[in-house]
Amino acid sequence: MPLNDVYFIGSFPTYNQTPTEQFPEFAFIGRSNVGKSSLINMITDRTHLAKVSNTPGKTQLINYFKVDESWYLVDLPGYGYAKLSKTKRLEFRKMIEDFLVRKQTIVCTFVLLDVRHDLQAIDLEFINWCGMAHLPICLIFTKMDKLRPNERKRNVARLKNSLLQHWESLPPLFLSSSETAEGKDEIVGYIEELVEKVSS
Ligand code: GTP
Ligand code: MG
Repeated sequence: MPLNDVYFIGSFPTYNQTPTEQFPEFAFIGRSNVGKSSLINMITDRTHLAKVSNTPGKTQLINYFKVDESWYLVDLPGYGYAKLSKTKRLEFRKMIEDFLVRKQTIVCTFVLLDVRHDLQAIDLEFINWCGMAHLPICLIFTKMDKLRPNERKRNVARLKNSLLQHWESLPPLFLSSSETAEGKDEIVGYIEELVEKVSS
């Protein structure tokens, strides 16, 4: 079902400034440039809702979007952006972790991984941290359109196997492309199911 009413609420530097209204929230996180903002535009059918950029590190604040007056999409800054100073990287990391741990209304955090690359140490570290913090997560493999048909199965299996070396089972997993809208119905359907569940 298309999302009818989607609008930008604001950008906030830390957890303390974010909206306090009790709506279910869905956060999108992953390495810089993995496609978080593009994915938010894709699933909402908007071209310029979230700011997309070729330059990694574009999203530096916690961005809130409200959907159908009933839930929030949250676009987070990417982690591990190499060009930031170590101090700045740690600052971002602390800000993101503080937000995810304290924000009780987050129903699910979607962790995005670029399907073209194998699992990176920083991704593993972040996903392990989510596990330790008991945060419910889903995985989204992004940029599926960049793979040739014969590479799809191979790359997806490779990433899954890398993850399964660290966990017994995987959380819900979606394959997506912001170019072709692959994965859109599945991701939106999953979110709407969860919204219904937590609201009933
Ligand atoms: P930061 O905000 O910098 O952390 O990045 P981000 O994760 O929000 O990534 P963003 O959506 O800005 O996309 C980064 C680049 O990847 C842009 O040039 C996008 O056009 C491109 N991109 C994102 N998703 C896809 C996709 O599914 N397919 C293709 N081909 N390109 C994509
Ligand atoms: Mg972004």
